[in-house]
Amino acid sequence: MDRLANKVAIVFGAGPNIGGTIAHFLAREGAKVVVSDISLAAAEETVDFIRTRGFTAHAVQGNATIEADVRRIVAETVQTYGRVDIAVNMAGRVHFCHLLDMDMDDWNESVLSFPTAGLLTTRYTAKAMIDGGHGGSIIHLLSTAAHFGEADATAYTSSKAALLSFARSAAMDLAQYGIRVNTVTPCSMEHQLWTLMRDEVLDPEWQRPERGGFYSRDDYLKMLPLGRFPRASDLAWATVFLASDEAAIITGIDIPVDAGLRHKYPTWTPGDHSGANIRDFVAKTHITRFGETQEKLIPEPPTASGQSDPISQEN
Ligand SMILES: NC(=O)c1ccc[n+]([C@@H]2O[C@H](COP(=O)([O-])OP(=O)(O)OC[C@H]3O[C@@H](n4cnc5c(N)ncnc54)[C@H](O)[C@@H]3O)[C@@H](O)[C@H]2O)c1
Repeated sequence: MDRLANKVAIVFGAGPNIGGTIAHFLAREGAKVVVSDISLAAAEETVDFIRTRGFTAHAVQGNATIEADVRRIVAETVQTYGRVDIAVNMAGRVHFCHLLDMDMDDWNESVLSFPTAGLLTTRYTAKAMIDGGHGGSIIHLLSTAAHFGEADATAYTSSKAALLSFARSAAMDLAQYGIRVNTVTPCSMEHQLWTLMRDEVLDPEWQRPERGGFYSRDDYLKMLPLGRFPRASDLAWATVFLASDEAAIITGIDIPVDAGLRHKYPTWTPGDHSGANIRDFVAKTHITRFGETQEKLIPEPPTASGQSDPISQEN
């Protein structure tokens, strides 16, 4: 529990999903954490949670793609906790659109979004580390979109791929100061299923109509060699490792937290790799918040009464 004792961290983009969970895990490992988000309410929700668990955190509002904001967030961190050792960045927003219809303003804003937050959060936290006379660890959250082609997502894939390249080169620029820069790559996350894709997940027959109906969430789950979607806590563990002195000689790498997806050769093993199925997955799934298990995603089916729920129904 003390892997990050005496360290100070900033998380940029720390609402209650991935960023909030990472902030919680950093704090649980002994770091003092500044929780920064474009939405003050989101940052405060995360800080409130961390404090209820008895750990140290401080909320700061700011847009990680705006230089003055990032400079202010880092200055407030140094003022509050005296130093910066760890920065975790996942801030940015992009437009999803087919390339034939992409508006140029949307494109320019999207493509710049993630690498701009990458540059600013790296530059100002690195300056604070250098000024403090010590090294540090900077971690950027990518997406499988940084590594694969994805329909209707040229802006997202371009923006995340640029962040990947940025991080590798930043690792080279900052190595001389003992500052490490690494990335973590999630695939589609479990929490996204129960928010954005809940209806799709609950209907195993769901097909994506605009793509000719060629896959369902069941097919997707079967493609994951480890047979489950990653949780925010899975990302948080990888981030804690990269942030800690256990990773002292690791820089410029990417850790895929994707159930084996990226290293599977899809032509050789096209489908049902793990035997997982979406019904069992959903039936077993508990919602997690800040890495702690909450209620089940769907209630237990009322078996005795003969009533049924959407998952237990036979099609
Ligand atoms: N959810 C997934 O399935 C998934 C998959 C792959 C990668 N990712 C990546 O993980 C990261 C976090 O995902 P999430 O699911 O927690 O998303 P989320 O939308 O729940 O959280 C993102 C947070 O960043 C904040 N934010 C956005 N733009 C910002 C900016 N310019 N400055 C400061 N804060 C900003 C938002 O207010 C929000 O609180 C993102 O970088 C996303 O691309 C997510």
